[in-house]
Amino acid sequence: MKKTILITGGAGFIGSHVVRLFVNSYPDYDIVNLDALTYAGNLDNLTDVADKPNYQFVKADITKEKSIADLFTRYSFDGIIHLAAESHVDRSIADPLAFIRTNIIGTINLLNAAKIQWNGNFEGKRFYHISTDEVYGSLGKDGMFTETTPYDPRSPYSSSKASSDMLVRAYFHTYNLPVVISNCSNNYGANQFPEKLIPLAINNIKNNKPIPIYGKGDNIRDWLWVDDHARAIDLIYHQAKNGETYNIGGINEWTNIDLIHKLCEIMDEKLGRVKGESAKLITFVTDRAGHDMRYAIDSSKLQRELGWTPSLQFEEGLEKTVDWYLANEIWMEHITSGEYLKYYENQYANR
Ligand code: NAD
Ligand code: DAU
Repeated sequence: MKKTILITGGAGFIGSHVVRLFVNSYPDYDIVNLDALTYAGNLDNLTDVADKPNYQFVKADITKEKSIADLFTRYSFDGIIHLAAESHVDRSIADPLAFIRTNIIGTINLLNAAKIQWNGNFEGKRFYHISTDEVYGSLGKDGMFTETTPYDPRSPYSSSKASSDMLVRAYFHTYNLPVVISNCSNNYGANQFPEKLIPLAINNIKNNKPIPIYGKGDNIRDWLWVDDHARAIDLIYHQAKNGETYNIGGINEWTNIDLIHKLCEIMDEKLGRVKGESAKLITFVTDRAGHDMRYAIDSSKLQRELGWTPSLQFEEGLEKTVDWYLANEIWMEHITSGEYLKYYENQYANR
């Protein structure tokens, strides 16, 4: 059935994979990709779908109430899949306010626009908010985050995402807005901006630069292949009940240091280096302030209710990711010239 779906943040890492999946899987849907094209947004991520008849791009900033309201007078949306956000924890430590603006004010602007447009007629409508496992805080050695784990965000980034989740729930309870939320673990794969651990390390290894490991490298993250996240979003968008929350995770916990050693092994092989050469670049640096120790996601609800499972083993996914970055040097060069150099200098100079 013909539908118009707004995807926000579609020029970013995860958003671009979601846009591609929806444009290709649903020729009957009109997909409108709204993105402000911040440093993290990149239309080069979407060149393969840019000319498809069911795809349109709109450059707009979700913090600007009027431009969002105007957009909702131009289009009649059946669904909103909201990914636009400031997403990097280190940047949130340096500049929390940018995260409050985009992640909280931006989200409420979209909620208000949807509420006004749908005006109580919610049949076939859906507001899907994409969130993070970081809202649950930090785990010790044992346990996993479930959908009922109390929120305990500890960085400006996770606090802003937790606030936006709360607002989305408030619109469900107060105005019956048909919402769903998912909270996902760390994604990896093609097109991730090289401020995040895996692409940053790939880029540095390739260029023989130090690989900065915060603290002792014993923090644990649960890594998920980005296309598996996109598939989960598709299922949840189409099948979840209003008001539900789903956790999405890779069942794939790695300490940062073990992950980087694995990546170095793959890079040695791909770059024809002697075994152990890339690992010599590992450099322990000052820890991230308030660094969450461990994340682990229990995604059994999503598996049980909607039949989702992660598709890739981590080693295979990591190798595919390395292959993608090595085959897309121009993509990386565009991104790492200019503004990125300034960010990198500020972030790592005195660690
Ligand atoms: P990203 O930083 O790669 O992309 C964010 C996108 O949002 C960019 O295209 C950017 O231009 C756009 N954007 C930022 N501010 C905007 C604004 N004010 N108006 C309009 N567009 C704006 O982020 P990502 O890693 O793809 O994450 C996408 C979403 O998924 C975020 O909501 C994030 O919290 C969530 N998430 C990310 C991960 C992860 O591992 N990366 C895991 C779980 C959840
Ligand atoms: O868990 C989901 C979250 O995963 C998402 O909500 C965030 O948007 C996403 O950025 C990611 O957050 P992390 O902080 O876990 O990702 P990042 O890649 O920044 O860091 C992963 C781990 O690696 C973390 O323990 C910090 C560490 N690290 C990171 C960088 C950039 C380093 O040791 N060195 C680095 O240079």
